[in-house]
Amino acid sequence: MKILIIGGNGTIGKRVNSHFSKKHETLVGGRKSGDVIVDITDHKSIQSMYESIANIDAVVCIAGEAKWGPFDAMTEEDFYIGLRSKLMGQVNLVRIGHKYLNSGGSFTLTTGILADHPVECATSAAMVNGGIHSFVKAVSLELKNEIRINVVSSGVVEDSIEKYEDSFPGHNPIPMNKVINGYKKSVEGKGTGEIIRMYDNS
Ligand SMILES: NC(=O)c1ccc[n+]([C@@H]2O[C@H](COP(=O)([O-])OP(=O)(O)OC[C@H]3O[C@@H](n4cnc5c(N)ncnc54)[C@H](OP(=O)(O)O)[C@@H]3O)[C@@H](O)[C@H]2O)c1
Repeated sequence: MKILIIGGNGTIGKRVNSHFSKKHETLVGGRKSGDVIVDITDHKSIQSMYESIANIDAVVCIAGEAKWGPFDAMTEEDFYIGLRSKLMGQVNLVRIGHKYLNSGGSFTLTTGILADHPVECATSAAMVNGGIHSFVKAVSLELKNEIRINVVSSGVVEDSIEKYEDSFPGHNPIPMNKVINGYKKSVEGKGTGEIIRMYDNS
């Protein structure tokens, strides 16, 4: 398969890329580095990326940002950061990209545990994660040419726990191989419209 991994040089993305590249052809997308330069907050950039790559079988997005902060300090513009990046960035990868994917191809998006188990200062991140879950379930009913779509929702991963441990007291970090398996299940499996949760229900 030819797999495009947006965010494939990031903390999770580089692990996922190194796994898939053993068996498949992978291309990494990012704003600053990668085989293809793309900014998912800009629909024109997404369009040019798809124009520049032929024969894509799978798009995996492990990118997208949202602003963290106390709710009473969050401005409207602060919320738009997550809406433009993590939410509409990923929606636009599908909205524009489904016409470019090979028949039987797949999209795999990324959210996180905050959709189900929010913590303080994460209203925006939790909101966009929940929105993406609903989007994936709904759009899976309409994608043509046997194109599938799933979303991997992980807890805080082992490689990031130092950065986030104060925000997630008592959280059991998710082993990197478990997270990789979420992406593997989506890309190499047959399921669609699935929220692949990589954490215990707590
Ligand atoms: N780390 C965790 O524990 C964890 C857990 C659950 C969910 N998540 C989610 O998983 C995603 C990746 O997390 P991470 O920790 O791996 O992040 P990371 O280390 O910051 O990596 C993010 C990657 O995405 C790229 N990127 C960011 N914004 C982009 C944009 N607008 N357009 C194109 N590429 C962009 C970055 O590359 P450039 O800077 O070159 O663009 C970078 O390679 C995030 O959405 C995060 O919320 C993370």
